[in-house]
Amino acid sequence: MSDTAVTTEQPSRSPLSDEVARRRTFAIISHPDAGKTTLTEKLLLFGGAINLAGQVKAKGERRNTRSDWMKIERERGISVVTSVMTFEFEGLVFNLLDTPGHEDFSEDTYRTLTAVDSAVMVIDAAKGIEARTRKLFEVCRLRDIPIITFINKMDRESRDTFDLMDEIEKTLALDTTPMTWPVGRGRDFIGTYDIRDGGVRLLEGGGAKTGAAQQIEISELGKINANLDMSQITDELELVREACKPFDLEAFREGHLTPVYFGSALRNFGVGDLLEGLGRYAPSPRAQDSNLRKVDAAEPRMSAFVFKIQANMDPNHRDRIAFARLCSGKLSRGMKAKLVRTGKTMPLSSPQFFFAQDRSVADEAFAGDVVGIPNHGSLRIGDTLTEGEDLTFVGVPSFAPEIVRRVRLTDAMKAKKLKEALQQMSEEGVVQVFRPRDGAPALVGVVGPLQLDVLKARLDAEYSLPVEFEVSEFSLARWISSDDKKKLEAFVASNNSGVADDVDGDPVFLAKNEFYLGYTKERAEGIVFSNVKDVK
Ligand code: G4P
Repeated sequence: MSDTAVTTEQPSRSPLSDEVARRRTFAIISHPDAGKTTLTEKLLLFGGAINLAGQVKAKGERRNTRSDWMKIERERGISVVTSVMTFEFEGLVFNLLDTPGHEDFSEDTYRTLTAVDSAVMVIDAAKGIEARTRKLFEVCRLRDIPIITFINKMDRESRDTFDLMDEIEKTLALDTTPMTWPVGRGRDFIGTYDIRDGGVRLLEGGGAKTGAAQQIEISELGKINANLDMSQITDELELVREACKPFDLEAFREGHLTPVYFGSALRNFGVGDLLEGLGRYAPSPRAQDSNLRKVDAAEPRMSAFVFKIQANMDPNHRDRIAFARLCSGKLSRGMKAKLVRTGKTMPLSSPQFFFAQDRSVADEAFAGDVVGIPNHGSLRIGDTLTEGEDLTFVGVPSFAPEIVRRVRLTDAMKAKKLKEALQQMSEEGVVQVFRPRDGAPALVGVVGPLQLDVLKARLDAEYSLPVEFEVSEFSLARWISSDDKKKLEAFVASNNSGVADDVDGDPVFLAKNEFYLGYTKERAEGIVFSNVKDVK
């Protein structure tokens, strides 16, 4: 894999662009149970980031020692926390951004996908494209994120391989190029054929390691497993060579084509091929859009945006960590950065890197890296940090909630404390908070009900605020805006009881139902109703 960064990137010009060129920042998208955790673990093993298989899963038990609200994760066997895992392999730095598996936390996942340059789509070979894979794929497509496909669980009974490719092409409108091809199926799966060099990598006998596949004549394969239908294998490979599109790097980088690898994460097979593919083809940190201009990763001045806030990651560090993706330049420990939203300068005295389970202080980080910045509430989702320039990165979205509830405090004396706590929670992205302009109690909006459970548990544990949620008269929220300020003011004035402020003070229209929303929209000339809000 020594030619990776060099063959696919621009010739490098400086130590900074060299560092940028060797970074691959990616996420894994999949439907629950397709094998994301297992694959993550195996990728980390390749990178030497963990020594023992099973450690990623073992995290589940370790959570026993973590703070209270994580009980929810434990009790329900889900992962709420999005974390970052960095590992090096063959001279490249891989930043794997993990995403919560449960769809109730999909907003978190969407925001994490704004911080990656590519994604690995894991598909269960027996199931094909499932609902959540498809949804996450659509989010990647919105941002033209290149996708590498890993068809997992080839060691078990699987669907017809051509069918699977066809399904990707048809349901996702994405061209496919198989980079490897399975030899045998299910119990008789013996390995993969490398389409590029024609070698066969065997499941047994060291084939799981990265490196050259064994050069075995196809005709010899029958000796390895007598059940193999050799004429079918020969026909299939011929068809693959003739009918499948050759790999096209540009089409892949533009998000129109996906290279497909086959393997078994559980058996640690095909993972090396995938990692090699990521290194060789996935883009190094891409230029990022800001409100002023595109910011190139190799620009010398540091810039970054916050896509995730995590509180209580570790009981030993009672802090709040903002995860920031570096968009350009180099971050050095101790440097000062401008928080563009407030105009204030903040010292980055202890930025942190994350490994499989541990974190360590980062002395330096480069564009593409993700650092954790401990803070006490100064940073919120969507914030931009720069070395002085007043630009703001765009594209970290908020989504209109699917569920709206009113928060009922059991102790009315604590209203002020609740207000502060809700502000914090919404800045962290736990829930969205809407404050009705008519002074009625705050409403919270979520995508999935588990978010409400997390909010309740955290308000109780961290703020001693026992709350209940009540069904409110509103069920829908839309951000409202207009090119004509007067029109917006007039709309707000005439709909005062249905307008609330979000965390940034932006107006939101609350509607009882779709019918009422449609009715209002029709009569609100010049007002735009939006179910997504981009951070400005
Ligand atoms: P997820 O994070 O995408 O939800 O999936 P995860 O890795 O947890 O895998 C889901 C189940 O599928 C696990 O089994 C895992 O062992 C199994 N699995 C993952 N990759 C492969 C593979 O390549 N081949 C086969 N045969 N199985 C695979 P489980 O019984 O639910 O959990 P566990 O008790 O084994 O941990």
